[in-house]
Amino acid sequence: MSFSFPFGKNEAHERLGQEFGNLHLDTKIQTSHAKPLANADPVVTPIYHSTTYRYKTVDQFHQPNHGSNYCYQRCGNPTSENVEVIINEIEKGQGTLVYNSGLAAASAVFLEFLGAGSHLICMAPLYSGTFSFLTETMTRYGIEITWVNVETEGDNFANAVEKAIRPNTKIIFVEVIANPSMAVPDLKGTIAVAHKHKINFFIDATFASPYNIQPITMGADFVMHSCSKYIGGHTDVIGGCVTVRDEENWKRLKLQQLTTGSAAAPFEASLLARGLKTLALRVDRISDNALEIAKHLEKHPKVTHVWYPGLESHPGHKYAKDFLRKYSGMIAFDVGTAENAIKFIEALKIIIHAVSLGGTESLIEHPLSMSHGKELLRHEFAAKVPEGMLRFSVGVENVTDLIKDLDQALQKI
Ligand SMILES: Cc1ncc(COP(=O)(O)O)c(C=O)c1O
Repeated sequence: MSFSFPFGKNEAHERLGQEFGNLHLDTKIQTSHAKPLANADPVVTPIYHSTTYRYKTVDQFHQPNHGSNYCYQRCGNPTSENVEVIINEIEKGQGTLVYNSGLAAASAVFLEFLGAGSHLICMAPLYSGTFSFLTETMTRYGIEITWVNVETEGDNFANAVEKAIRPNTKIIFVEVIANPSMAVPDLKGTIAVAHKHKINFFIDATFASPYNIQPITMGADFVMHSCSKYIGGHTDVIGGCVTVRDEENWKRLKLQQLTTGSAAAPFEASLLARGLKTLALRVDRISDNALEIAKHLEKHPKVTHVWYPGLESHPGHKYAKDFLRKYSGMIAFDVGTAENAIKFIEALKIIIHAVSLGGTESLIEHPLSMSHGKELLRHEFAAKVPEGMLRFSVGVENVTDLIKDLDQALQKI
């Protein structure tokens, strides 16, 4: 096999001809621009690290989408858009945007589709970060919020949401599985209420992952994920995404994203694209592991309660069974007291004591002393977390080893 160096592919050399050779070194370095290699069609989308894009003519800049999609990284980037296309395909949406965090994704929808004086109906409990954004930030802009508790309302949740509707209600927001209590709302009933009253239905489907549910196909208007969880899947990237049912809403969010500067960076986007390749494999395995572990814990004498949507004992099981492919990897269980919970967590050998979730490795935390601490409890509608409750993000490890680890730690309490 013989090789030859691809001389003559330097765009500046072609443009400047002889003059190129006479340029000073420091100018030459700046003008040199290797053209993309001919006949190179990489299997994996490259990381486009350029903040800006060159134009041949001024006219090109003024054409729709600047004659290409790319002008400046904050406005669009090929690596990020590759991920958006993939997620949009999975979600069966009319457009996806990737953000630099899950909270950037959630807050983008609230900021764009609520205005001063509008009303939001929100499921309680929900993720503490979203809760803080809504109660601390959005209320300062005159947004009114009605909280509807999915745990106390149970089968009456959709009715309670309907009763809370006001003329200025703009969004109904729920989580597919509540963080950290694993409560599951009647999604179909609540979406029907939103459609009947022509109100945007917005769902955070992070805990289920886009493998286990595609809410757009059920009629949701917006679905978001913290991509830092199952989509990234390897505990090495923070990101978020929003997928829409109506392209006009994508256009609004796209404009907002480039004016607020909340887009995911290309390196992060490339990690999301890599994570997505194994989403199905990982979530399938994780969901199977979690169901087996939840059944085991439910029988364990030292465990007073298990909350997992895949268990028949779970109050939202009938809903979860209807709309989830599998029940995902998040389990909450109670070991009686905070003292027991802390002793148990510190005795684990394989399962890692850390916040966050959705990675290949099993992670466990004590919500009351960590993610859902006392600061939040001063709010009437914050998650009421039992003191002995642990939140477990099941990983892809061998399930027998995970159960052994849980058992040996349970023995210590
Ligand atoms: C359900 C849920 N939604 C949103 C978020 C926020 O995502 P991020 O940390 O990527 O901003 C989290 C983070 O833990 C979460 O658990």
